[in-house]
Amino acid sequence: MREKQQQELRRLLMSRVLGSRELMQGLNISQPTLSRLINNLNNEIVFMGKGRATCYGLPRKIHGKTGRFPVYAIDPRGEARLHGHLTALQGGQYCWKDANDIGELFSSLPWFLQDLQLSGFGARSFAYRQHELLNLPRKLADWSEDDMLYATSHCGEDRVGNLLIGEESLAHYLAMARDMAPEIDLDSRNWQYPQLARKTLAGDMDSAQIGGEQPKFAICVDDHGTPCHMVIKFSPAVDSKEARRYADLLICEHLALEAIRIADFTAARSRLVIAGNQAFLGLKRFDRRGAFGRLPMISLRAVHSRIQAPCDSWIDAASRLEKADLINSKDAQKLRWLSLFSDLIANTNQHFGNISLIPHQQGGYLLAPAYGARPTLYEPVAGESPLRLFTPPPVRNEVAADLPSALDAAILFWKSAAVDERISAEFRQICYENCELLKLRTDGPKLVT
Ligand SMILES: Nc1ncnc2c1ncn2[C@@H]1O[C@H](COP(=O)(O)OP(=O)(O)O)[C@@H](O)[C@H]1O
Ligand SMILES: [Mg+2]
Repeated sequence: MREKQQQELRRLLMSRVLGSRELMQGLNISQPTLSRLINNLNNEIVFMGKGRATCYGLPRKIHGKTGRFPVYAIDPRGEARLHGHLTALQGGQYCWKDANDIGELFSSLPWFLQDLQLSGFGARSFAYRQHELLNLPRKLADWSEDDMLYATSHCGEDRVGNLLIGEESLAHYLAMARDMAPEIDLDSRNWQYPQLARKTLAGDMDSAQIGGEQPKFAICVDDHGTPCHMVIKFSPAVDSKEARRYADLLICEHLALEAIRIADFTAARSRLVIAGNQAFLGLKRFDRRGAFGRLPMISLRAVHSRIQAPCDSWIDAASRLEKADLINSKDAQKLRWLSLFSDLIANTNQHFGNISLIPHQQGGYLLAPAYGARPTLYEPVAGESPLRLFTPPPVRNEVAADLPSALDAAILFWKSAAVDERISAEFRQICYENCELLKLRTDGPKLVT
């Protein structure tokens, strides 16, 4: 009898998490019988909430193994601490229990873990290197959500931010910290970077376990005696028009970050190395400290998943987060300014993964330094660099006050690119024309506020 009830209980929980009332009704049993039934299942059932509000879920297996994973946070000194437990449930739901065992139910991967999933170049390269070891499809496009969680829980030791999922990832992190490869001396960059880029493309070396389409690897450099974690983006080594354009754009990213800083906003610190035809843009990571320390960060996309709002535009996101008291008015203004500046430098890549936030007090955030800003309008398409007409979108009224400063910064950016001899003559001409175009905007009538 009991076995039959257990089977029926499992069957009911196959579709989703259910409350005690639903289970009592479904099984036609009393509360004490339900409690006994669940207790007898020896931890097979996960429960969340208390008293009448208690609900029950059935864990789902991930690749034939338990779908229950510890999640660890690495602190700024490199120590790992248990942060909570994630359990994948039947019906595609997830149960999160924090370190105090307080449970919460999610209908998809909890928002604060979503950035640990890989995308872009890093993900494709990761899939290529690890699929055999993990017994996963070779092509990332064929991975399911469970495949991604499985991979992240086994080899997610070096993702963006300070969290990692799974015992295996923790073991890899501890081993990595113990046998860390010697830091690269800053002076040897010119000959080491091309080698590392070649190894990354050949799949002989882990690329950076972070998102974004631009090819990149991650290293720790010796910055005059201080270990410093960097992401190195690189352009193709071959001599072609397309490769040249990618190099031009990386040089532009360096100049754009500088223009943002000159306008008094924070941006990732970058260093440019040109070796042969190849450009290497080194970005100091703001989610790493010293050799092993890590700091939390979260994408604007994940925060929008938290508040269940659409990823529409950076300007709307700024107002939304400010209204919800999630960011202060200064950071909201910075985000609006970054949107304007991006429009004016032809950065068409204003998606919600290209802004990150740093958890601050009481569930709020500070805006992380800006990154990834370059004139992506001019990115090659299918091996060609087609002619593109730059027409910045009209300025929305609510950001009109920020226009003069964003315009100044954008003009400075195009001007510095137009005279930078590391950039090809062809692209310098485009930068010059865009500079002249924006200068015209500084004349004429304005909205006076
Ligand atoms: N300086 C940095 N410190 C820490 N994380 C960074 C930094 N720059 C970028 N990232 C992370 O890496 C991801 C990819 O970087 P991004 O500059 O957007 O690359 P791409 O140009 O390829 O899109 C970002 O979404 C962000 O999560
Ligand atoms: Mg990006």
